[in-house]
Amino acid sequence: MRRLEGKVAVVTGAGQGIGAAIARRYSQEGATVVIAEINEDQGRETTRAIGSETGGAVLYVRTDVADPKSVQTLHEQVRRTHGSVDILVNNAGIAVFDEPLSISMDDWHKCMSVDLEGVWHCCRTFLPDMLDKQHGAIVNIISNHAFSVIKSTFPYPVAKHGLLGLTRSLALEYADKGIAINAISPGYVDTPIADWAFNREEDPARARRETEAKQPVGRLGRPDEIAAVAALLGSDEARFMIGENIVIDGGVTIRMYE
Ligand SMILES: NC(=O)c1ccc[n+]([C@@H]2O[C@H](COP(=O)([O-])OP(=O)(O)OC[C@H]3O[C@@H](n4cnc5c(N)ncnc54)[C@H](O)[C@@H]3O)[C@@H](O)[C@H]2O)c1
Repeated sequence: MRRLEGKVAVVTGAGQGIGAAIARRYSQEGATVVIAEINEDQGRETTRAIGSETGGAVLYVRTDVADPKSVQTLHEQVRRTHGSVDILVNNAGIAVFDEPLSISMDDWHKCMSVDLEGVWHCCRTFLPDMLDKQHGAIVNIISNHAFSVIKSTFPYPVAKHGLLGLTRSLALEYADKGIAINAISPGYVDTPIADWAFNREEDPARARRETEAKQPVGRLGRPDEIAAVAALLGSDEARFMIGENIVIDGGVTIRMYE
């Protein structure tokens, strides 16, 4: 079943990792997909690869979600090419990890501007069209840092806690207007951002082995495991789910201690 047939979906940060997996899955499910990605080479390459794999319509628009003007340009370009958007996946995110009193204000702002404000820029830009149609879905990719904290990963969890609040606030506000807004909180997923975190350690290979061993399932998650749930949340089958945050973390958050 191609459950996103006829839908137009924007996926931010879809040049690689989880976003690319969501874009690929959405295209397989029949959606017209817009890859809104800051890294032009990566964005174009992923757009080409998905388009040739699925034969579906895939468009690349260079986008910096932290810049409202860039999001406005994305909106105009998508409207011109494909009309109004049915599904917005706010996936673009960056990891800024530090000890609270060591972080510069620049790094604080960088984290907030992408991980929290970037999602808001996209929501406030695409929501009016969805409200006109009284139909739409927004899927925010958060993290299990939205409710648990690891020391010295500041201020990433601050932004992700905020994003959970943003998801719930908007979800309730527009629940009776045909808009379903939900979130997915992945645990450790094997993507370039995970590699980046391991590479900060003295022995990256060892850090990876140790992290894998700490997961109740004994491995990291795969991007396609997040994409499968994102396909459900973007579809018309999940319209009674409002403001939910689905945790996909291999069991990490349900474990008390060993
Ligand atoms: N990988 C994990 O373990 C993990 C766990 C929990 C949550 N997440 C979240 O999932 C999302 C995707 O993570 P990932 O692991 O695929 O990351 P990634 O770094 O592999 O990919 C993120 C993509 O977003 C793009 N991007 C960054 N800033 C952008 C901006 N300002 N505008 C547009 N695009 C931008 C990057 O160029 C990149 O292509 C992020 O929000 C991240 O916080 C990831």
